[in-house]
Amino acid sequence: MVDLSGYQPPPFDQWPDAQPYEQWHAISDQGGVIELPPNAWDPSARAFHVTRFADADRILRDADTFSASINTEGIGPYMGELILGLDGEEHRRYRNLVAHAFRRSAIDRWERELIQPIISDLLDDIVPAGRADLVAQLTAKYPVQVICGIVGVPLADHDQFHQWAEKINYGPLDHEAGMAASRAMRDYLEPLVAARRTNPTGDLLSELVHAEVDGERLTDERLYGFLRLLLPAGAETTYNVMGTCLLLLARDRAVRDRISDDRSLVGPFAEEVLRWESSVTMVSRRVTIDTEIGGCPVPAGAAITVLNGAAGHDEDRWPHPTDFDLDREPVAHLAFGTGAHQCLGMHLARLEVAVGINAVLDRLPDLRLDPDRPEPVVAGYAFRGPRTLPVTFG
Ligand code: HEM
Repeated sequence: MVDLSGYQPPPFDQWPDAQPYEQWHAISDQGGVIELPPNAWDPSARAFHVTRFADADRILRDADTFSASINTEGIGPYMGELILGLDGEEHRRYRNLVAHAFRRSAIDRWERELIQPIISDLLDDIVPAGRADLVAQLTAKYPVQVICGIVGVPLADHDQFHQWAEKINYGPLDHEAGMAASRAMRDYLEPLVAARRTNPTGDLLSELVHAEVDGERLTDERLYGFLRLLLPAGAETTYNVMGTCLLLLARDRAVRDRISDDRSLVGPFAEEVLRWESSVTMVSRRVTIDTEIGGCPVPAGAAITVLNGAAGHDEDRWPHPTDFDLDREPVAHLAFGTGAHQCLGMHLARLEVAVGINAVLDRLPDLRLDPDRPEPVVAGYAFRGPRTLPVTFG
């Protein structure tokens, strides 16, 4: 029996190696809602974690009772005006202005012009050696390069762009560095934005600066807020899912051979990975009125952490949920959230993962874990994936 008394998140420095599922399963077994102990700097603040699918789904769909404003509280000063932190009509108007840029035809073009060439170039560098760390050499670079390419950042500046994005993300832990990176990224993007205003080229930036719905356009604050969000939202997440997919393929020869022989299984495989080991395990909301979750009273003002990763292990929805099962009946999961804020990049992410898996199966035959290196594991608290993936191939 897991002891949940005093349950709380691990300290930040332990997040990358955390293994929280045992505790999260125990919360589900005990009703699916747990209140965290009061924190030292604001003892009156109330905070709850929620693990069951039905509760998570209801919270994410009910924006009147569960506000997304909490998403701006820590990171807002560094990111700018965030789509993730708005509710209701204001969020709808912002989302309408950016969503068009992610339409099917744009994604198809990105696949031809960016995604396929990027994965192919990265694999060109890997293939000759017969062994590689697929995290350091492939997954850590692939989605970053795709997003930078989509935004229009030249290849030579990718590392710099990535570093700014990380400093912005860690702004709440290092204020000076976060603010400096936030300004630097805007200074860098301003000339690109100005050029697209006068001479649109059909890329994402051109779409965003010229987007107009009902006579309304993106303000500069929202434009730069959206651009600052793209890398953490689209790269960190996809990189981890890719890593977990490739780890499974390298570890389980039967699964690898089935998918390699029948590529129609690539999509179902990636969906089962997203359910089983969601790369984003939690999303936050702030309660607007006194309510209840799963029968547990929750006061207005409380912070709710929806553990969407844990919700993917709900046995009311998936039999034997902790097993990875390629033949599972497809049932919607919450890896991309749901409701008004459901991931705007989910079609792009699914495509990147599918293209990446197909390319690896084509170019790295007989993929296996490197027997001379420690066996990699999926780890992490808020973001989960393997930190290394040493493999050999034919
Ligand atoms: C496997 C990869 C990905 C996962 C697991 C993921 C997960 C999520 C989740 C759970 C949310 C909802 C957050 C909330 O409700 O508070 C979200 C929102 C969002 N995601 Fe993703 N994401 C992925 C890839 C991407 C990509 C590739 C992009 C863009 C290039 C992207 C852009 C966004 C944006 C802009 C939002 C905010 C939408 C809104 O607030 O209306 N994501 N994502």
